[in-house]
Amino acid sequence: MSPLRTAGLPVAALAAAGIAGIGYAIAETHLFTLRTAELAILPPGSSPKRILHLSDLHMTPNQRDKQRWVADLDRLEPDLVVGTGDFLADRHAINPVLDALAPLLERPGVFTLGSNDYLAPRPFNPARYFLGPSRLDAGRRILPWQDLVAGLTRRGWVDLDNRAVRLDLTGWTIDSRGVNDPHIELDRYDMVAGPFDPSATLRLGVTHAPYRRVLEPMAGDGASLILAGHTHGGQLRVPGYGALVTNCDIDRARARGVSSYTGFGSMGEHTAAMNVSAGLGCSPYAPIRFACRPEASLLLLRAVDEPSGH
Ligand SMILES: [Fe+2]
Repeated sequence: MSPLRTAGLPVAALAAAGIAGIGYAIAETHLFTLRTAELAILPPGSSPKRILHLSDLHMTPNQRDKQRWVADLDRLEPDLVVGTGDFLADRHAINPVLDALAPLLERPGVFTLGSNDYLAPRPFNPARYFLGPSRLDAGRRILPWQDLVAGLTRRGWVDLDNRAVRLDLTGWTIDSRGVNDPHIELDRYDMVAGPFDPSATLRLGVTHAPYRRVLEPMAGDGASLILAGHTHGGQLRVPGYGALVTNCDIDRARARGVSSYTGFGSMGEHTAAMNVSAGLGCSPYAPIRFACRPEASLLLLRAVDEPSGH
């Protein structure tokens, strides 16, 4: 048997495994998952609240399964919905996004935008992520993001891009603030800086990309909860190791899920709970996920003095 022939078998096996892996990674982009977490962060005596955290839909008009799945999340009956940006991946996706969100837009909601709401996707080399946070490509077309903002705010959701807003809801109050996307340096935390209202039921900080220069003052100003997206959870995770990259400057361990962040600000040193969503989509030019299912998060908030499970 020639050396070429003996070498051919493992090469063929490797090629088959690679094709199967890519096939699975494409299929995983449709395996939408709800991740649930309990957080004991409300003041003593508070009644439980449910926050639905959506991020990184990267919607295109033909993604009907994702649109149906998002619309069905209304059955969870959240008390607040938070969208942390990258809703769009196509200039014609605004109505599909608004239609998918329609039931949830009947509920209280806040949002920030991400870079992909402003700029249409373009082909890129995913390997560049391993060289550090991605940079903007020149020549990306501007998306009609103003129509997205108008559609969300017309239904009552609150735009937190470099804004702070107090929400007086039935049975609870939220002191909320957010920044425009730090990944493209639109964040102006100075416009919302200062101590959170300690009497609010929830002190909420929102950002698309979880950069430390935003997380630190948000936590230090007394946020009880910070929500972010952008990382896609690493998008390609190694089982047992986790995310390889975050596409920003937080550590890999916090690329997805609940953690905490300690910062120093007007409240001195303070620690906030943090949820980073792996998001529900990805660039149409890199439609793969591995060991990192597309997700929405349901955060079950309870009082610090309330035992788990109540
Ligand atoms: Fe994204």
